[in-house]
Amino acid sequence: MRQEPERAILRPIGPADIPTCIDVFYDAVDPLYRRLDQPIPPRDPASLGRLLGHLLDHDASRAWLAEAPSATGDPDPPRLLGFGTAWQRETTWYLALLFIRPEAQAGGLGRRLLLRTFPSLPGAAEAGPGIPDGDPEDARAGGAGAAGMMATCVDSIQPISTGLYASYGLVPRVPLFTAIGYPRPGSFPDLPRGVVAAGFEALAVDFDLPEALAAIDRALLGFARPEEHRLWARERRRGVLFRHAPDGVPLGYGYAQPSGRIGPVALLDDTLYPGALGALVGRVSPPGPYLVLVPGVNHRAMVALLRAGLRFEGFPGILSSTRPWDGLDRYLPASFALP
Ligand SMILES: CC(C)(COP(=O)(O)OP(=O)(O)OC[C@H]1O[C@@H](n2cnc3c(N)ncnc32)[C@H](O)[C@@H]1OP(=O)(O)O)[C@@H](O)C(=O)NCCC(=O)NCCS
Repeated sequence: MRQEPERAILRPIGPADIPTCIDVFYDAVDPLYRRLDQPIPPRDPASLGRLLGHLLDHDASRAWLAEAPSATGDPDPPRLLGFGTAWQRETTWYLALLFIRPEAQAGGLGRRLLLRTFPSLPGAAEAGPGIPDGDPEDARAGGAGAAGMMATCVDSIQPISTGLYASYGLVPRVPLFTAIGYPRPGSFPDLPRGVVAAGFEALAVDFDLPEALAAIDRALLGFARPEEHRLWARERRRGVLFRHAPDGVPLGYGYAQPSGRIGPVALLDDTLYPGALGALVGRVSPPGPYLVLVPGVNHRAMVALLRAGLRFEGFPGILSSTRPWDGLDRYLPASFALP
């Protein structure tokens, strides 16, 4: 039944809403694939639930849902029509998830939820929320803060979200491919001489790992994110630090998951990619294929992965942002929602 999105009530998402948000997610996404006669991608509600929990833990003020209006005494809870959630680290804002049930789409609800998640960057009070008119000059400055950036990853099969975010200055810039497969043995070279890889667990106790990770993240992504590194440690991803052997200077880091997912990987020098991918792949023995998300601009990683035998799967995402996101040429994201 067609809902009336214009009458929907917006309120913050609470932990108890997570299962219904997961239901909205699949309700909104599945028709995109059905319409194109494509297979529905495998479901992973548990990991989506963990992601939503992480977003609520650290960015609760940017997590909103919309529900149908209900009358007092109504026996049923109001139907959840959509939700949106973003995160902010330092002056970077990122839209993680925005989904509206099919019967409530194209009525302005996606836009209303998006605006609720918009950043609270320094200067936001004067500039207003985000980039109301999509002025490219304002967008170049990062919207509501001179040094800031607003970004997200859209599905390339979905013009509505791509257009909606672009109208606020988050224009589609970099394709993000999913590469899957089994690397042929010996297809990645060793790390160059003078570069060593050490598991996070094997680092000296007095080595300041959070500081090293923050410096690499700031250099490549523009912000530090200790919250995510703590999450990945809890999820038992195997972290590896790459260092210059003679003086121990950090050159980058990467994670390998027991499931076979490689990422995030952040290397200050892109020529390290083939060797670093080999080192990361060697850290885990997954039950199925390896999976890596590769930005189109990460030339070295893409060529190394394809030559090793991995293949692109599905439609690429598109990283959209208010200004060019420097550093993606030396980076492999962890996921679409939490790159
Ligand atoms: C994408 C989605 C969140 C948008 O929410 P919505 O409530 O349907 O959208 P709204 O009515 O608020 O906004 C629609 C806007 O999209 C833009 N838009 C729509 N079609 C467009 C097109 N073909 N080209 C460019 N822009 C387009 C316009 O700005 C439009 O606003 P207008 O109607 O005022 O001109 C929702 O449709 C959805 O959940 N889709 C399926 C799942 C999905 O793809 N989620 C996003 C993952 S990245």
